[in-house]
Amino acid sequence: MSEAGDTRTTDAGEPRTPILSVRDLRAAYQGPEGMIPAVRGVSLDLYPGEVLALVGESAAGKSSVALATLGLLPTNAEVTGSILYEGQSLLDLKGDARRHVRGGEIAMIFQDAMAGLTPTLRVGEQIAELFLAHEKLDAKAARAAAIEALRPLLPDAERIVDAYPFQLSGGMAQRVMVAMATALHPKIVIADEPTANLDPAVRLETLNWLEEMRDNGTAVLLITHDFGVVARLADRVMVMYGGVVAEEADVFTIFRRPRHPYTYGLLSSLPGVMAGARLTPMRGNPPDLATLGEECAFLDRCPKAVTRCRVDPSPPLAVPEATPGSDVPIAPGHRVACFNPMVVDLREGR
Ligand SMILES: Nc1ncnc2c1ncn2[C@@H]1O[C@H](COP(=O)(O)OP(=O)(O)OP(=O)(O)O)[C@@H](O)[C@H]1O
Ligand code: SF4
Ligand SMILES: [Mg+2]
Repeated sequence: MSEAGDTRTTDAGEPRTPILSVRDLRAAYQGPEGMIPAVRGVSLDLYPGEVLALVGESAAGKSSVALATLGLLPTNAEVTGSILYEGQSLLDLKGDARRHVRGGEIAMIFQDAMAGLTPTLRVGEQIAELFLAHEKLDAKAARAAAIEALRPLLPDAERIVDAYPFQLSGGMAQRVMVAMATALHPKIVIADEPTANLDPAVRLETLNWLEEMRDNGTAVLLITHDFGVVARLADRVMVMYGGVVAEEADVFTIFRRPRHPYTYGLLSSLPGVMAGARLTPMRGNPPDLATLGEECAFLDRCPKAVTRCRVDPSPPLAVPEATPGSDVPIAPGHRVACFNPMVVDLREGR
């Protein structure tokens, strides 16, 4: 990880066009005692050939953002906002047009590889279905294409195509999912915890694959708890907390000059991030979304809270204000939702 270039501009500094633009996305689930607002106004831009990481503790709303983008939320969810893929509204796409984008142009790696596969269909049928639907191959050609898609990942591809998902190990299921995600050369890969619960070899393979996709120009929305994965792969990072984006910056800035007390808290609890500092587990728990008020969602846990945090509605995501007397720079694209942000430079130990 080095002081990064800005993936939102070309090398000549011209603005680039995002391939995916999400604005004011809101997703709420009908629960037994009312609506649970899991995503509360998330906006993001994803650019070709970049890895944008969504990080944050459990229940921050990361998977809900991913599933809403692909129209895969369960029927008890309500979604509003705008999701534009190459200028077309994904929320308005129906039928064939939606299927063409989903799986073909935007592929997803699910948090649980096994759950991403249909249990009653043989592996080969599931991959062949992609070729049947998107490339209009006949059944024989689609099966042959499925075997070819599996072969680089699983040498015994001829045998695996006839297996059911329950016959696969976790690592094999992950490889099948990677084969499905790669098959149609998608322009976007959404990877939700792609390295969770994998043995080190499959984890490394998955990271290498994501890197290769990115290097070939695919945009990657990477959801992860693992800051090692963020440091290795991400160009930009969005830190989510309680259904909102708390902070956004290039990866170098997030690790070195975090502004949001939550980001700082996450980093303080990780080994090897803050040179010489004691590991400090973050106190408290994520908020109860069902009862969350208008105030900053991090208020109960925040060591930097000031009076304003208790009386004003949650602050919007905005460029941090310059701090008088501080020479800690503000990177292009750095935004934070906080009334009293940190001003730190971790490499300098300030
Ligand atoms: N199908 C559902 N019905 C009701 N509530 C849900 C449903 N799916 C998610 N939620 C709730 O929405 C909130 C956000 O969940 P989400 O899965 O998006 O979080 P996450 O950041 O991906 O968490 P994790 O890191 O644990 O995967 C949580 O409070 C969760 O309980
Ligand atoms: S707005 Fe206030 S409570 Fe929220 S993170 Fe910033 S300082 Fe803490
Ligand atoms: Mg999740």
